[in-house]
Amino acid sequence: MQLDEVADDTTEVLLTQEQIREKLAELARQIEQDYAGEKLLLVGVLKGAVMVMADLARELRMHVEMDWMAVSSYGSGTQSSGVVRILKDLDTDIVDRRVLIVEDIIDSGLTLSWLRENLVSRGAKSVEIVALLRKPDAAKVDVDVRYVGFEIPNKFVVGYGLDYAEKYRNLRGVAVLAPHVYE
Ligand code: PRP
Repeated sequence: MQLDEVADDTTEVLLTQEQIREKLAELARQIEQDYAGEKLLLVGVLKGAVMVMADLARELRMHVEMDWMAVSSYGSGTQSSGVVRILKDLDTDIVDRRVLIVEDIIDSGLTLSWLRENLVSRGAKSVEIVALLRKPDAAKVDVDVRYVGFEIPNKFVVGYGLDYAEKYRNLRGVAVLAPHVYE
């Protein structure tokens, strides 16, 4: 779905499909350099990271393996609490593996901070993070993210994997949701 097809539900376009494509190509070049000659496992965090994973993985000019986790963060409403439950675990044994967690957005940072520790504790050789978006003003914990696409303002954004009540994930770009949609 194109951003202009939901223009009435959004107030501002943050990123077009083309801007995202260019940024993922940039990140892919860095990842190829950093993991040259290595066996890399991409771990996508469902559901938001599906689009980033699909486009980033196809942009990479190297072999990668892909696996998925689904986690749920206990919290009130949209606020994440840092207490995380695994809904779907990896199929892969990551002992001695180089792992790159693929995320759509880092908001408070609580999910990622927990997830990285969890994967490190399983004996991975390295655990790094690539996130398309980060909201610096929403950070509650400092997460060391090796690859960040865009830093964005602390607004309710949807599209390219990001939802509101499970809608808008299939937008080609990222936009700010209009308050009348959720108020
Ligand atoms: C989003 C996003 C991250 C997390 C970031 O997922 O994909 O996993 O929230 O928030 P945090 O930095 O405050 O921890 P969400 O829980 O909305 O699930 P979804 O990917 O299925 O939409």
